[in-house]
Amino acid sequence: MRVDIVSIFPDYFTPLDLSLIGRARANDVLQLAVHDLRTWTHDVHRTVDDTPYGGGPGMVMRPEPWGEALDALAPAGAPPPRLLVPSPAGVPFTQAMAYELAAEPHLLFACGRYEGIDQRVLAHAASRMPVTEVSLGDYVLFGGEVAVLVILEAVTRLLPGVLGNAGSLDEESHAHGLLEAPIYTKPPSWRGHDVPEVLRSGDHGRIARWRREEGLLRTAARRPDLLAALPADQLDKRDIAA
Ligand code: ADE
Repeated sequence: MRVDIVSIFPDYFTPLDLSLIGRARANDVLQLAVHDLRTWTHDVHRTVDDTPYGGGPGMVMRPEPWGEALDALAPAGAPPPRLLVPSPAGVPFTQAMAYELAAEPHLLFACGRYEGIDQRVLAHAASRMPVTEVSLGDYVLFGGEVAVLVILEAVTRLLPGVLGNAGSLDEESHAHGLLEAPIYTKPPSWRGHDVPEVLRSGDHGRIARWRREEGLLRTAARRPDLLAALPADQLDKRDIAA
């Protein structure tokens, strides 16, 4: 997968040399390039922002440098990337979207700062490529950079060959619309707290059932919205009994 990121703070992305994302880059599973938006400014101050039309606090990113950046990274005639613009006004980022993005050959992230990017940049880009404004959650960050780090980590771990044990993708939280059951390792007893007996029983049928039930209980307690959204055919009789 090819990924381009445009930001006025390219240094935010130095952690992408580390750990499993760093290895995915070294193995060429991920071809990542970070670009400084100011490359596409032409004035001595390398200006990227201005005051908002209609008044109000803060500054807005001007369209011209963004237009040139997108022209350079998504040139006419080449297969268009999918443009992702992190914003608290975007659609919620979910594990389902992470899977969708992991299937794309080329992602282009535009990191807004200040109050955001002039909306005409997105309107113009949408005539050339799919554009998604995406939100990490119902809170406001300083800018899109940290959101891109989060999205990229969620996507990269789904790329073939990145996780050592792809089976872990099948059991983790959100894999089937439920939260994952609690997990334990050795020792069997620690500070008066014991590992549940069932997990030490060696009975794989019982263990699978226990995990399913714990996942359901946790989801009901912490994320009733997920449980309500679960299609009826994903529950079986034993779930309802539990
Ligand atoms: N930029 C600012 N706040 C954000 C959020 N909640 N999600 C994504 N990008 C953002």
